[in-house]
Amino acid sequence: MKITDIAEGTYQLSIDVENILFEGLWDIPKGVTLNSYIIKGEKTAIVDGVCGWDGVPESLFSLLKELDIEPASIKYLIVNHVEPDHSGWIEAFKKINNDFQILCSKKGKELLGAFYGLTENITVVGDKDSFDLGKGHVLSFAEIPNVHWPDTIGTFDHGTEVLFTCDAFGSFGKCDGRIYAEEFSKEELKEYEEETLRYYSNIVATFSPQVKSAIRKIREIPAKLIAPGHGLMWKDTKTIIDAYDDYADYQKGPAREEITLIWGSMYGMTETAVKHALKVLEKEDITLHVHRVPEDSWGTVLTSVWTSTGVILAMPTYEFKMFPPMSAVLEEIGKKKALNRKVFRFGSYGWSGGAERELADINTRLNMGWEFLEPVEFAGVPGEENLQKIESQIKELVKQVKEAVKNK
Ligand SMILES: Cc1cc2nc3c(=O)[nH]c(=O)nc-3n(C[C@H](O)[C@H](O)[C@H](O)COP(=O)(O)O)c2cc1C
Ligand SMILES: [Fe+2]
Ligand SMILES: [Fe+2]
Repeated sequence: MKITDIAEGTYQLSIDVENILFEGLWDIPKGVTLNSYIIKGEKTAIVDGVCGWDGVPESLFSLLKELDIEPASIKYLIVNHVEPDHSGWIEAFKKINNDFQILCSKKGKELLGAFYGLTENITVVGDKDSFDLGKGHVLSFAEIPNVHWPDTIGTFDHGTEVLFTCDAFGSFGKCDGRIYAEEFSKEELKEYEEETLRYYSNIVATFSPQVKSAIRKIREIPAKLIAPGHGLMWKDTKTIIDAYDDYADYQKGPAREEITLIWGSMYGMTETAVKHALKVLEKEDITLHVHRVPEDSWGTVLTSVWTSTGVILAMPTYEFKMFPPMSAVLEEIGKKKALNRKVFRFGSYGWSGGAERELADINTRLNMGWEFLEPVEFAGVPGEENLQKIESQIKELVKQVKEAVKNK
């Protein structure tokens, strides 16, 4: 829990959340911060809001107390995005202050009605509107729908030139008391980027085309500080905007010069071939991510696939289909639209096979556009010729990945 004075009359209130599955499904090994902002002009506004994952805003109230702000003095709630991680506190807040006006998008108004029964004292704002809080804090708004819900807006304070972007430019990962990206060393920022990628690929990725539109709009705003709803704030606004621009591009591929190897095995037959594949890959000059399923979570695998141009899948057949945790993870990767990857698959079967057919089905059904090299399937344990073919296919994949990245 932390309060920081970030600009004239502007404060960040931030809490760390750990040991939860974000959205009820994504594991976040390094936690997440939820950020809220107070703007004190002649009138006081709160941008977004924070509460514990249980929806209890105790921490928000105690942060307000530390700032000497009476909840009753908050006259404006700026709801950039209605998802309950940012708005779940409003119901409890209403019990102690029932005299406030909400500013949100048209779609946000609908959602506030649906989620909290809030229908009154709502002012709809959009691209052309501005709102004066006094003392120079004139706000304008940028509609950035689907980053991440359809109602999302960004709020810009012309007085301080702070842009409040909610989920856009957010990240997982606790910040350990620091709040600006500029407080991190280069190495720390590199580590932190993994968490930003985890956030992007797990939460925002599906909407990459809308992220591109949002970025075009946001680049026109003369922001001196990007203040997101999760993670660090950025004085160097270009770095995080460019990073998000790149992440959105990875959706269609080619992404980075990287390969993700995802594998699963019941009795070690496929695993024998995986060990061989790893020896081959070790000698190649390419960044490699390796994940075993179901041990590694969907979110972790997805983070790696998002930045990878090449994917290697290694799994056996199971009841005429593929090893189930592999299909589960591939379905999710397909739904997030990690498209047009270069792919090679190998694996063991016992009598009928079937993994290949399901793989082709998923690729077609989810329109993934994955391009497959000829697979290597073997009955039971892999033979010498299978291992040799795996080796040559991996070398071909590496070549294709490098070419694709070079020509993009
Ligand atoms: C529960 C189970 C279901 C299986 N279903 C099939 C199947 O439908 N068709 C097939 O060809 N092999 C099937 N197999 C055989 C496996 O594909 C085979 O044992 C393979 O070598 C397993 O590779 P692994 O040790 O890497 O898991 C099945 C095996 C198990 C344990
Ligand atoms: Fe969200
Ligand atoms: Fe959020």
